[in-house]
Amino acid sequence: MSVLDDIQKSFIKKESIYGPDNYKPLPVVLSKAKGVWVWDVSEKKYLDMMSGYSAVSHGHAHPVLLKTFHDQSSRLSLTSRAFYTDTLGPYLETITQMTGFEMALPMNSGAEAVETAIKSSRRWAYRTKKVEENKAEIIVAEGNFHGRTTTIISFSTDENSRKDFGPHTPGFVAVEYGSSKAIEDAITPNTAAVIIEPIQGEGGIIVPPDNYLNEVRAICTKHNVLMILDEIQSGLGRTGKLFAYQHSCGQCSCGENSCDVQPDGLILGKALGGGFMPVSVFLSSEEVLSWMDPGSHGSTFGGNPLASALAKRSLELLYEENLIENSRVMGDYFKEQLTALNSELIVEIRGMGLWLGVEIDQKYISGNELSKTLLEAGILCKETHESTIRFAPPLVVTKEELDWGIEKIAKVFSEVTKS
Ligand SMILES: Cc1ncc(COP(=O)(O)O)c(C=O)c1O
Repeated sequence: MSVLDDIQKSFIKKESIYGPDNYKPLPVVLSKAKGVWVWDVSEKKYLDMMSGYSAVSHGHAHPVLLKTFHDQSSRLSLTSRAFYTDTLGPYLETITQMTGFEMALPMNSGAEAVETAIKSSRRWAYRTKKVEENKAEIIVAEGNFHGRTTTIISFSTDENSRKDFGPHTPGFVAVEYGSSKAIEDAITPNTAAVIIEPIQGEGGIIVPPDNYLNEVRAICTKHNVLMILDEIQSGLGRTGKLFAYQHSCGQCSCGENSCDVQPDGLILGKALGGGFMPVSVFLSSEEVLSWMDPGSHGSTFGGNPLASALAKRSLELLYEENLIENSRVMGDYFKEQLTALNSELIVEIRGMGLWLGVEIDQKYISGNELSKTLLEAGILCKETHESTIRFAPPLVVTKEELDWGIEKIAKVFSEVTKS
C-alpha cells in the first residue's frame, strides 16, 4: 500500500470533499507527463500503461501535436458551426480518405459520437429503410461499454451503470457478445443497426471468436441492417492495425480501407484528440449521414478548429511515425515477455497490439490491490472488472521503455505469488 505524503493527501481530500466519488482513483496525484512517462506531485516517475484509457496513444505532449496545439489555438480555436473554417474541411477530407468512409460527423466525447451513431441509424431506418415511426430497434452486445449518457446506459448490461437512472430509453436489444447467431435471431423488420465493439474494452479486453465480425457483416448485409463498430478504444492503431476490425480481414485483398468486414458506420474518439482534448466522430456513408440536416444534430464544440487541427495531425502521425506498426511489434513482444514469466498469477492474456488484458488469479491478490502494488513499483495501470489488469502504454513506447516496465511487472508478480 502506498505511503502518501501530505501534499498528495491534501489534493486527494479536495477531490473528495468538492466532488462526488463517481470514480475510485488509485492513490497517486499526478502532476506532469512527457512521452510514456508521468510524474506525481512528489516527483516520483511512472511508466504510463494506462494512456488515459487509450486516449494518449501518441504519448504525452507529443512535440508535433504540442506545436499544432499552440499554433492553432493562437490563430483560431473556437467559432461554433455557425461559420465555415479553414480547418474542418481538410480534417474531414483526411479522416474519410484514411478510413474509406464517405462522410464524418464530428463531436467531442466518445459518448456523443455513440449518440450520433444511434440518431443517424434511426433516421436512416425511418427515412431509407421505411421502418414504422418510433419502432426502430438497435441490437447491442451484453457486456458492452459505449459511454455514460442516459440513452447509452439504457442498453448497458452492467447493473451499477443503469440502476436508479431510469426510466431507460427503449429500442435496444442486448444479445450475447461473440455470437453472430444471437444477432441474427434478434433481427426484426424494425432493426436499424447492430452496434458492437470489435473487442470489448471496459468489458475486460474480450476478443470475440475469429469469424464473428465477418459473420455479423454478412448478416447485416443480408437483412439490410447497419453494422456499426465502436472503435473508440480499440481504434487508431491500438491493436496493431488502424482498426481492430481489420484483424478479421484475413481473406480479402483490401488495402485496409475497403475490407470485407468494412462496417457501415464507425465511431472514433479518445486518441483522435492526440491526448490533448476530447475529439470524436461518427463516420458513415452519404446515404446514412445526409439525413442529418440543419437542426437535427450538432454541438457547440464539435469540429472546432483546434480539435480539427489536432485530429488531422494525430491521424497523420499514426503513419508518419509508424505508430500502428510499433503497436503490433511492441505488443507482440510485450505479450511474449508476459507469457514467458510463467507466473501462476496469470490465468490468461487477452488482447492485441499494445492493448493487453491480463486475467489474474485472485486467490493471490485482488485486481485493485495488484494495481496499487504495480503503482508502488512505478507502473500506472488499473484493473477492469476486478480480475483483469489492462496494460495499454502509449503507441510511441520503445523496447527499452517497455523492458523497464516488464522488469517491474515481473518483480511484482513474483513477489505476489511468493507471499
Ligand atoms: C468503446 C467505448 N465507447 C465509448 C466510450 C465513451 O467515451 P467517452 O468516455 O469519451 O464518452 C468508451 C470509453 O471508455 C469506450 O471505451
